[in-house]
Amino acid sequence: DETQLDHEAIRQAAASIHSAAKSLKASDVVVHFDGIPQNKKESAVYLQALTEGLILSNYTFDELKSKKKDAKEDKTETTFRLATKSTDAAMKKALHDGIILAETVNFSRRLGDMPANLMTPTILADSVVDAAKGTGLKVTVWDKARIKKEKMGGLLGVSMGSSQEPRFIIMEYKAAGTGTKAPIVYVGKGLTFDCGGISIKPSANMEEMKYDMCGGANVIGTMLAIAKLKLKAHVIGLVASSENMPGPAATKPGDVHTARNGKTFEVNNTDAEGRLVLADSLSYATELNPKMIVDAATLTGAMVVALGNIHTGFFTRNDAFAKQISKAADVSGEVTWRMPLVDHHTKDMKGTFADLSNISSGKGAGSATAAAFLEQFVGEGIPWAHFDIAGTGWAVGNRLPYCTRKGASGVMIRTFVELARQ
Ligand code: BES
Ligand code: ZN
Ligand code: ZN
Repeated sequence: DETQLDHEAIRQAAASIHSAAKSLKASDVVVHFDGIPQNKKESAVYLQALTEGLILSNYTFDELKSKKKDAKEDKTETTFRLATKSTDAAMKKALHDGIILAETVNFSRRLGDMPANLMTPTILADSVVDAAKGTGLKVTVWDKARIKKEKMGGLLGVSMGSSQEPRFIIMEYKAAGTGTKAPIVYVGKGLTFDCGGISIKPSANMEEMKYDMCGGANVIGTMLAIAKLKLKAHVIGLVASSENMPGPAATKPGDVHTARNGKTFEVNNTDAEGRLVLADSLSYATELNPKMIVDAATLTGAMVVALGNIHTGFFTRNDAFAKQISKAADVSGEVTWRMPLVDHHTKDMKGTFADLSNISSGKGAGSATAAAFLEQFVGEGIPWAHFDIAGTGWAVGNRLPYCTRKGASGVMIRTFVELARQ
């Protein structure tokens, strides 16, 4: 019921408070919070939502402008104070958690908003190393030579047309006392630019393909948040990062490469590159004996056609896992929709000269057939879900007032963190 007061309504109301304060050039705003919630539990939940809404609304990306447009306007720093009579420990925790979550979302948004020349795979990996300092997050970065040695033929093949080296970023957080707990592995697509390669994209809106690393950026944000929240969890984040360019050594249509798990694939369209870098990442994730694997990727234009920029579509064959995901999304306030994935889709991805083709032989269902391709690299029996954030990764400000109009959204970080918390 969209007319009912819930935590997401509070999060969005916070955006109204924020914009009112900004247009008034207020330097000090006190939000009297008591009276909105009905009980203790709701108080903490609403306070966290309010905190998140304010900080998410405060995100801007203007660091690349040489002059602030109106010095006076930009100098009004607004302090928001949340007033409550409660001295509940849960309220303090709600404030603390809300700040960490929203700030890590904003961190990921900046990674997405940075243009491709200033956010190459190398710079992305360095940013993660930097951001992880002091958080307890262990970061390992594989360079091109290592990626080759590790038999990541998908990631390597995609990177061959670019002068920028690929990177494979591994982040691990293991809370004390989690013993030998199998990890949750998060996997993200990290294409810092996707022009399509030899199967080149049309020029219109191609600049938006700097956002093709938003899945990766949001996995990075998820990992940072979990570490900073000190959740009692064992989690691993993997981001395969590359450019997709048409340089002289680029993969050509028809080329066959071998993924890390030994499966071969024909690249019949070099623009279907996300699934190729994810193939190696999911193979590697499988080797980590995970409790579950969750991936996020701006994978298909078909996802935008199917669901627009409201719902994030997710794919899993595991009904129990789908329920768990929907539950986590309810808590985070993010809007998801389960999409179909069946054997027909798998059949459509069979190759002519190799095990697999990277594009479907069938008509339509482009997002589901992409998911079916990914599934080929996930070990049997492992609960796995694929989130296609092509429609929700950026430019959702028309739907969510605490997101910028055109910029990165940081979508699914809150849900992914909630999955780990549960
Ligand atoms: N990064 C794109 C998907 C995309 C397109 C995301 C537009 C957001 C907006 C992806 O690498 C891609 O190009 N996919 C192709 C696959 C096709 C060739 C099978 C697509 O969706 O057209
Ligand atoms: Zn592409
Ligand atoms: Zn892409």
